[in-house]
Amino acid sequence: MSFSLNPAALEPLNTAALPASWRGGVDRAAIDRAIERALDAVDRNLAHFGDAFPRPSSTHGVYAAMDNTEWTNGFWTGMLWLAYELTDAPRYRAAALRHVHSFHTRQRDRINVNHHDLGFLYSLSCVAGWQLTGEPLAAEAALGAARLLLQRYLPGAGIIQAWGELSDPAQRGRMIIDCNLNLPLLYWASDHTGDPAFRMAADRHIEAAARHIVRPDGSTFHTFFFDPASGAPLHGKTHQGHADDSCWARGQAWGISGFPLVYRHNGDARLIELAQVLANYFLNRLPEDGVCYWDLDFTSGPEPRDSSGAAVAACGLLELAQHLPLADPLRAEYERAAAGMVRTLAQDYADTGITPGAGLLKHGVYHKPNGVGVDEACIWGDYFYLEALVRLTRTWRPYW
Ligand code: GLY
Repeated sequence: MSFSLNPAALEPLNTAALPASWRGGVDRAAIDRAIERALDAVDRNLAHFGDAFPRPSSTHGVYAAMDNTEWTNGFWTGMLWLAYELTDAPRYRAAALRHVHSFHTRQRDRINVNHHDLGFLYSLSCVAGWQLTGEPLAAEAALGAARLLLQRYLPGAGIIQAWGELSDPAQRGRMIIDCNLNLPLLYWASDHTGDPAFRMAADRHIEAAARHIVRPDGSTFHTFFFDPASGAPLHGKTHQGHADDSCWARGQAWGISGFPLVYRHNGDARLIELAQVLANYFLNRLPEDGVCYWDLDFTSGPEPRDSSGAAVAACGLLELAQHLPLADPLRAEYERAAAGMVRTLAQDYADTGITPGAGLLKHGVYHKPNGVGVDEACIWGDYFYLEALVRLTRTWRPYW
């Protein structure tokens, strides 16, 4: 396939190399048991954290508590919304709505919001809250966050700058693959207000990501720099991966999930073609049990796995599959691979202990080069694991 946004090639998917145990597709009884265990953990952690939030990654498997100041706090709120959708239990709704108040204060008072992760934060807390309850404060907070995100748009380069002050020479003109998941907040804001400015910025950013952050072999850079004035593409650079020219596993998973989620909002079918390229690259580089190493350069040996990257990829594969024609054989392959990945996570990576504050999924990696959260639970891994379980059991309207 030649892609009209980027000449990345579609590697054939090597299904024979995927774990044999995945061939059976969805095992509904196993998924139901995994949901039950996940909800038990959510209940335990709700009692443990109260209105505080878990830290981004655990220490010896247990999250410390924190205030609403990190890029990751929306994942816990998103888990409460998912638990509410699974059970209709008012305790989850009430707790998540208390979080909505906290997120409203956070954007109003500009508490650590000077970065692009506002989509992760506000789609899962406030867009979800608005969709599920119609609470006006949730929409107001989500819109406030979308306005802050739009301020990071660099019109010359057509990208949302990921990190730092817009004037910071070290960060100026840098986009990162993770931002694909921040864009749905902008589309939501345009839909909500009728103002096309949010959508136009998101459209230009995703086009730049498709053209430059995806490499011709279907792998991805973690981050990419542009000249902020002329928009000239400069160079790729890793931040959390093994090397500038390696493929950070979770980054690839952000691509697999983010391109189809943006397609949902802008209908650009080229993003679905591109997501297949990324998906096949990812699936063709899995170790024997099908749960990725933290960087796709590694396919065997002692390096740590990243269960959180696998959970993100599983959701991405399910999102991608939905947008393929029923008759496309890759649709069934992606659904099977996602179901298999989730089953392996549930069997071999889920924390089955009962320690308050423990994560749902063991063996994730936050930032290996910095030695942060290595072989630990990661709160986004827990969120996407629960999202994948929800996606496997019902027709679900994404918060994204
Ligand atoms: N978005 C940062 C990460 O995936 O660790």
